Amino acid sequence: MTDQDLKPFFAAAAAGLTFNAPLGELRAADLIRRLAPADPGWRALDLGCGNGELLLRLSDAYAISGDGVEREPQDKPHADERARVLGLTEQVTFHTADATTWETPAELVLNVGASHIWGGTEQALAVLHRLTKSGGLLLFGEGCYEAEPTAAIRETFGDLPDLAGLATLCVAAGFRPLHVAVSTIGEWDDFESDWRAGIERLGTPEARAFADRRRDEYLGGYRGTVGFAWLILTPA
Ligand SMILES: C[S@@+](CC[C@H](N)C(=O)[O-])C[C@H]1O[C@@H](n2cnc3c(N)ncnc32)[C@H](O)[C@@H]1O
Repeated sequence: MTDQDLKPFFAAAAAGLTFNAPLGELRAADLIRRLAPADPGWRALDLGCGNGELLLRLSDAYAISGDGVEREPQDKPHADERARVLGLTEQVTFHTADATTWETPAELVLNVGASHIWGGTEQALAVLHRLTKSGGLLLFGEGCYEAEPTAAIRETFGDLPDLAGLATLCVAAGFRPLHVAVSTIGEWDDFESDWRAGIERLGTPEARAFADRRRDEYLGGYRGTVGFAWLILTPA
């Protein structure tokens, strides 16, 4: 199957998710608490924002303005509707655009599960350092290995760092890590189940075959080996 063939499955999976990452409600609230702006004039920027839920919650919690940048047009109606329901249409703007073209820095930058926008962790950190204003904060949500991967897992996920290696890359890119954590196995299990539920809802034999394959790959493969790190970073 080509990437093009898989696109409807990925869209269906994402459509039913609150966050397109292994992020539970407790951690989301904790991250928002940790990302408190130092000044009410701070602006937020979420690059690869998906449905924009985390950006909207941040904006709502602290009454700050922000921009979400997402390449896929299907995310915008949902994001705009959530902004309307939360009364944030004046505060938050969603742009359907390639995030590599974004040049305006912000104090509060989010990049969750989307370092691939710039080709990987180190390239992303270099750009995000430029886009995070001095004294500001970056929330970087990124994959890492929590155990030695098999050759098959490494082939799928590539040469991810472990958590210590990821923190070291952040320091090398010019950040100070203020908070470093990983998603729990429960957050992963919920995320994978919710992701597959969107595929199950399609109800076709092809969708079921795809969901079966993903479940096997997770439960019989990368569960507990591929981790997801949450780093709150400030420019050094
Ligand atoms: C794993 S999802 C994470 C979405 C969101 N950050 C979240 O946590 O729910 C990665 C997102 O990055 C978006 N993306 C990928 N390449 C992009 C690009 N060049 N510009 C903007 N968004 C991009 C994808 O469309 C997808 O919505």
